[in-house]
Amino acid sequence: MASYLEIADDEKGHELDLFCVPRHYENDLDKVIIPHGLIMDRTERLARDIIRDMGGHHIVALCVLKGGYKFFADLLDYIKALNQNSDKSVPLTVDFIRVKSYCNDKSTNNVKVIGGDELSSLAGKDIVETGRTMQTLLSLLNECRPKMVKVVSLLVKRTPRSSGYRPDYIGFEVPDAFLVGYALDYNEYFRDLSHICILNDQAKEKYKV
Ligand code: IMP
Ligand code: MG
Repeated sequence: MASYLEIADDEKGHELDLFCVPRHYENDLDKVIIPHGLIMDRTERLARDIIRDMGGHHIVALCVLKGGYKFFADLLDYIKALNQNSDKSVPLTVDFIRVKSYCNDKSTNNVKVIGGDELSSLAGKDIVETGRTMQTLLSLLNECRPKMVKVVSLLVKRTPRSSGYRPDYIGFEVPDAFLVGYALDYNEYFRDLSHICILNDQAKEKYKV
C-alpha cells in the first residue's frame, strides 16, 4: 500500500492572509489547505521513492492534462535532479494526454481522452476522486501492453463515491471537499494559484457555467 501524507477532515488550514494569493482570487477562497512548499517537499520524496522502485527501467512519463501539469513538471524536475546527482540513473521520455470529465464541481460520467501517442509506465495525475477517470485511462493504456504501468497522483480524496481504486504513489490523502490551485481547476479557473485551497460557495456560483 502506498504511503501518503494525510490531511485530516477537521484540518483547519491556513488563513489566506498569511500567504501570497493572486488578488483576483482573494474573495473566492476559504483557506489554504496545502501550501506550495509542502507540495514541493512531498513531491521531492515521491521522486526518490519512484527512482528507488524503477531500477534501471526506462520511464515513459505520461502527464495527464490539464490538472496534472504542475505536479508532472515538478516531479520530473526532482527525478532529473536525482538522475544527475547519483550513481544510479533512469532514462526518461515524456508524453502528454488530456482527459476531461468535470463540469462545475461534478463529474459528468463521461471521461474524454485526447492525445498521447506513446504509452507509458508512469502516469502523473492531479487528483483521484471516484477513480473513474484513472480506471478508464488504465484500460486504454493496457490495450497497448506496456511492460509496466505505475500511477502517481498528488492527491486522493477520501470520499464515499470512491470506486476503491488507489494509485501506486500518492502525495496526500485529502478531505471530501472541492480543491483548487496548483493546476487543479474549477471550470478552468484557479490553475494560476500556487497553493491548494478550498473554494468558497460564493465562488462556486461566480464561476458556474
Ligand atoms: P474521478 O474520475 O472521480 O477520480 O475524478 C478525477 C478528476 O476529477 C480529476 O482529474 C479532476 O479533473 C477532477 N476533480 C475531482 N475532484 C476535484 C477537486 O477537488 N478539484 C478539482 N478537480 C477535481
Ligand atoms: Mg478539472
